[in-house]
Amino acid sequence: MTSWIQDVIDAVYVVAVLVFILGLRAMSAPTTARRGIVFAGAAMLLAVAVTFFSPHLSNFLLIFLGVAIGGLGGWYWARVVKMTAMPQMVAMFNGMGGGSAAAIAAVELLTNVSSPATAGLSMAGAIIGSISIAGSVIAFLKLQGWMRSKPIVLPARQVLNTGVLAVGVAFGGYALLVADTFWLLPFYVLLLLYGLLLTLPIGGADMPVVISLFNALTGIAVGLDGFALVNGPLGDAGYAMVIAGVLVGAAGSLLTYLMAKAMNRSVANVFFSAFGAQEETGAEVRGQLKPIDAADAAVTMAYANQVIIVPGYGMAVAQAQQKVKELADLLESKGVPVKFAIHPVAGRMPGHMNVLLAEAGISYDKLFDRDEINAQFPATDVAFVIGANDVVNPAAHRQGSPLYGMPILDVELAKTVIVNKRGQGKGFAGVENDLFYRDNCRMLYGDAQTAVGQLVSELKKAA
Ligand code: TAP
Repeated sequence: MTSWIQDVIDAVYVVAVLVFILGLRAMSAPTTARRGIVFAGAAMLLAVAVTFFSPHLSNFLLIFLGVAIGGLGGWYWARVVKMTAMPQMVAMFNGMGGGSAAAIAAVELLTNVSSPATAGLSMAGAIIGSISIAGSVIAFLKLQGWMRSKPIVLPARQVLNTGVLAVGVAFGGYALLVADTFWLLPFYVLLLLYGLLLTLPIGGADMPVVISLFNALTGIAVGLDGFALVNGPLGDAGYAMVIAGVLVGAAGSLLTYLMAKAMNRSVANVFFSAFGAQEETGAEVRGQLKPIDAADAAVTMAYANQVIIVPGYGMAVAQAQQKVKELADLLESKGVPVKFAIHPVAGRMPGHMNVLLAEAGISYDKLFDRDEINAQFPATDVAFVIGANDVVNPAAHRQGSPLYGMPILDVELAKTVIVNKRGQGKGFAGVENDLFYRDNCRMLYGDAQTAVGQLVSELKKAA
């Protein structure tokens, strides 16, 4: 009786895993991404639901309570979250995954250290999961603006961090050695502290790397827990966790590599150098800000040989993508070619601009990444920057700047640069942008949706 139920459960896990893989594959293109999310969600639901039929499961009331609190909370927050607050929610949900992995590892360490291998795997899951949840909380606070985004650097930071990690791990080892679970308490406290200390010195512009790395770590922690579970009574659920963890770990690691490449930094450099902690040196802002009104900006664009639009975080805040699409269509109807230059870390989450522009129905073949488009700026009449700042900041070319080394979109090489933003707010990295003061730059002030809407009206009037 028990064995055939187990066989069915195993078969369902295999189906869930296949659907996970299909979901991940669908997420790799904007047109199928929504379907990918539905697939992955359905697979997770299936895997969780079928586990309830496991003959080895008990404590149903507690499990239902946990599922109800987590499920309702997740459903509610996902419904009410604003698009612009999505990155910090992703960071938090990511952290929850790490926290769950650390909690599962705790249960394993308390009840199922049947072999040195199980103990080692659970210990590794606990370490990585704890660092991931604590680090994600800091990432959440920085993205939410509840903590300053500049690096917070404590004295003798490297020694302190290494010490906290070493003593924490030693407590864990001691707990296993003397078989006294009390010592797991300081083990967890110190590892959580290590996660906080590791993330505090990471500055604004490096957050994309941080979010992606914690995503990867969460996957790895879940995978390690899965390996440990395989030896226990719920063994097959362990296999499902291993595969789900490996998928998340692999996808997250690749994303971390891409984000680090986009910042021209190594992951180690992001985590251990407190880059950007220094105050800006050599910053020179010359000239003055020169405003332009919508009518003049519209004329400049209407007579351009080409307009390259550079969207950034401000476009997301203003939800201006539909207006941007109208603008692009109008210009093209007047014979002005329009291209979009997409910086990999524009906005606040990987692919942020691609998602918004796809949502507005802007064709994917109009989107160009930095390497493809940079060479075109010198031969372009108008670069139109909408709510972007750090990703077009020439300070990235200057030693001593917290942005130094980050590859940017070279909009300043266009004949005219029109920048839309509301006022004199700095970008996420908090660095002054001298692009705005250059001779060929004009400022179109206002909320992106309103300002681009005015451009559309002006172009229509001229039709
Ligand atoms: P930012 O450098 O953040 O600059 C956005 C600009 O938009 C601000 O200077 C702001 O100026 C303007 N703005 C805000 N609301 C606006 C609105 N309603 N209408 C018009 N303009 C508005 O943006 P970016 O260039 O896209 O760079 C992204 C930054 O975020 C990078 O430093 C990146 O490293 C970091 N980051 C990225 C990610 C990912 S994965 N993409 C994750 C975390 C952090 P005003 O206040 O004057 O309007």
